[in-house]
Amino acid sequence: MKAWRASLLRFDDDGRAVFDTDGLLVTGPDAAGRRVVIAAGDHSALAPRFPGVPVTHLPGRILAPGFLDLHIHYPQTDVIGSPAEGLLPWLEHYTFPHEARFADAAYAADVATFFLDELARNGVTTALTFATSHPTSVNALFTEARQRGLRLITGKVLQDRHSPDGVRDQTEQSLIDTEALIQKWHGVDRLGYAITPRFAPSCSEAQLTGAGALAARYPDVWIQSHVSENLDEVRWARELFPASRSYLAVYDDHGLMRERAIYAHCIHFDDDDRALMRATGTAAAVSPTSNLFLGSGFFDYAGADRVGFRYGLASDVGGGTSFSPFHTMLAAYTVGRTTLEGRQTKPGLSLRPQHLWWQHTAGAARALGLQGIVGNLQPGCEADFIVLNPAATPLLARRTAQAQSLDELLFAMIVLGDDRLVEKTVISG
Ligand code: GUN
Ligand code: ZN
Repeated sequence: MKAWRASLLRFDDDGRAVFDTDGLLVTGPDAAGRRVVIAAGDHSALAPRFPGVPVTHLPGRILAPGFLDLHIHYPQTDVIGSPAEGLLPWLEHYTFPHEARFADAAYAADVATFFLDELARNGVTTALTFATSHPTSVNALFTEARQRGLRLITGKVLQDRHSPDGVRDQTEQSLIDTEALIQKWHGVDRLGYAITPRFAPSCSEAQLTGAGALAARYPDVWIQSHVSENLDEVRWARELFPASRSYLAVYDDHGLMRERAIYAHCIHFDDDDRALMRATGTAAAVSPTSNLFLGSGFFDYAGADRVGFRYGLASDVGGGTSFSPFHTMLAAYTVGRTTLEGRQTKPGLSLRPQHLWWQHTAGAARALGLQGIVGNLQPGCEADFIVLNPAATPLLARRTAQAQSLDELLFAMIVLGDDRLVEKTVISG
């Protein structure tokens, strides 16, 4: 067993933050040999129970669960900051030509290495990430993630139409490749596979039907896609699938909404869409820096909470502008305070600092069906955590020292934080 003594942040079952100013985190192997949290809480109460366990003392630091990124594209690491009028021109001019390079295994391995380094620098310990349509891109990322012992989920993108040469795949082969990748990687060490139709407009009926059949055959595999991000995209999807009630319903009509299905954006929804999310146990990956950068719109927090479906936070790099969960949480707060009409709203409970943080940790884990496994530091959780230095910059030091409550402390870090705040990222500590 090992222990760390510092301030300690974790979450209770209702998503409320629990904070020990002088805390102790004890880790050790479970019956299956995974490194998990054995105990977490106040130092003076816990320390006598663990005599002889070596303790790393980190005064002035905060231990917190590693962040989860619910939607990111590893092959778009080098697409960040490519400006376009909106989603569809951005895909055509920057994203598809860049993703074509991932047919090259050496190139994919190089980007995978950089990408995983960048996640770690930013305190992200688990990601649900797109690869590209090339199986090589999936193999490259899983290989690198496995070496690092990461809990990571990815999948080969399905896009057999409305996609240029170089990224377009073949319907039947794409489904054969997907199943082979599931069998090769899903459940190996901490890795998981996600069936990944890019978005309905890039997939034929036959490809979506095949993806849905795989989702039924492999119920503990994840599903990831995009929906209702941009008004032009919504119109296009409605034209292509006139029989479905809405863009979101296209996925339901093909068996692609269930627990462990995560859809990025979910902006232009009506209440029937929200009810469908809730009824199927599907979760939204809210991607505010991407939505602001591409001018897509604003996720409706009040609508999501009124109907009650699951959501968590995501960077959506390279539409998103930052790997940093702090930047994403701040953008979520900003977006949540503004309605489509530009009116200011009262910040609801979902925009409290501790709830924003939860949406990027334990709440994101719940969205993935991994609650109690990652995203928290309660006993039994896998021991992926970060060490934060709230005095990492002069302004952070000055501002956090004046925090009068936990919410004030968390908010100061959300507003002023970036990769400098993350002193260390520990995987299976
Ligand atoms: N919709 C289809 N593909 C993409 C993508 O790569 N990024 C975003 N943000 N939306 C998409
Ligand atoms: Zn995306």
